[in-house]
Amino acid sequence: MTTGNQIDPIGKPDYGIDAPGVRRGMFIAGVGGLLLLIAVVSAHAVGLVEAGLPSQAADALASLGVLTGVYGLFMGAYMTYGSRIGKLRTRDRLLDAVGGLRSWQGNEAVLDVGCGRGLMMVGAAKRLGKESGGVAVGIDLWREQDQAANSATAALHNAGIEGVADRVRIDTGDARALPYADGSFDVVLSHWVVHNLEPPADRLRALDEMLRVLRPGGVIALADIDGFAQYLSHLESRGLTQLQFHDGGLEARVMGALSGGSYRPQSLLAVRP
Ligand SMILES: C[S@@+](CC[C@H](N)C(=O)[O-])C[C@H]1O[C@@H](n2cnc3c(N)ncnc32)[C@H](O)[C@@H]1O
Repeated sequence: MTTGNQIDPIGKPDYGIDAPGVRRGMFIAGVGGLLLLIAVVSAHAVGLVEAGLPSQAADALASLGVLTGVYGLFMGAYMTYGSRIGKLRTRDRLLDAVGGLRSWQGNEAVLDVGCGRGLMMVGAAKRLGKESGGVAVGIDLWREQDQAANSATAALHNAGIEGVADRVRIDTGDARALPYADGSFDVVLSHWVVHNLEPPADRLRALDEMLRVLRPGGVIALADIDGFAQYLSHLESRGLTQLQFHDGGLEARVMGALSGGSYRPQSLLAVRP
């Protein structure tokens, strides 16, 4: 266990780039597509098309270059936007919605499952009172493939910068076997974590763990990029009440279509009876 008082607060908070390998792959594909287009245009310019390359093949390669270039660069840019701006907006909206179900008193015990560099943990800590004894706990396994420069130190550094180091605590542990007693938390949050768990049955295991550590009357708030049909029916089957599902609107529909359904940012909230 590590506390935020051990870290010097310097600089701006940085909640990290999510899925950095996927984002890099998108940019590489985008640049590769544009290079292919440039190569075909150059071949036209120096008279290679027709002489060495049939013009139909050149057109097909140019189209492939345009499609790959535009798609890769757009998806890479969108993933950057999601990590730098979009998820901060989601955080505020989700924490406001938690307050709509159970108004923030400042003395809550909050858990951020898969906290990464502390996005939800720090956001929740900002709603806790300094004197009222609230605490925001972040737990993670610090997987670098899920978030760039992922570490407890980074999460605590962000808490220090945001002025809430005295209200946070970090643990290292697995979402599928949370090291807490039943009913330990008033609010359990998780942002863009559960879809990473394999095999898919582990996602429901993690949800059950989140419900186990939630107090009766407590709120679970889950944001993710995939899997909500399964999450919703699972929470319903566990008797959760006041279910709220945010379908992500037009942005989620467009991104879902462009990604073949694998990237559709949505969220849900529910209350444990
Ligand atoms: C895409 S990142 C999101 C991090 C943070 N919630 C955010 O939104 O900025 C996913 C996080 O889930 C964590 N994670 C993945 N599998 C986990 C597991 N089984 N238990 C705990 N954390 C896990 C990763 O280490 C990573 O920090």
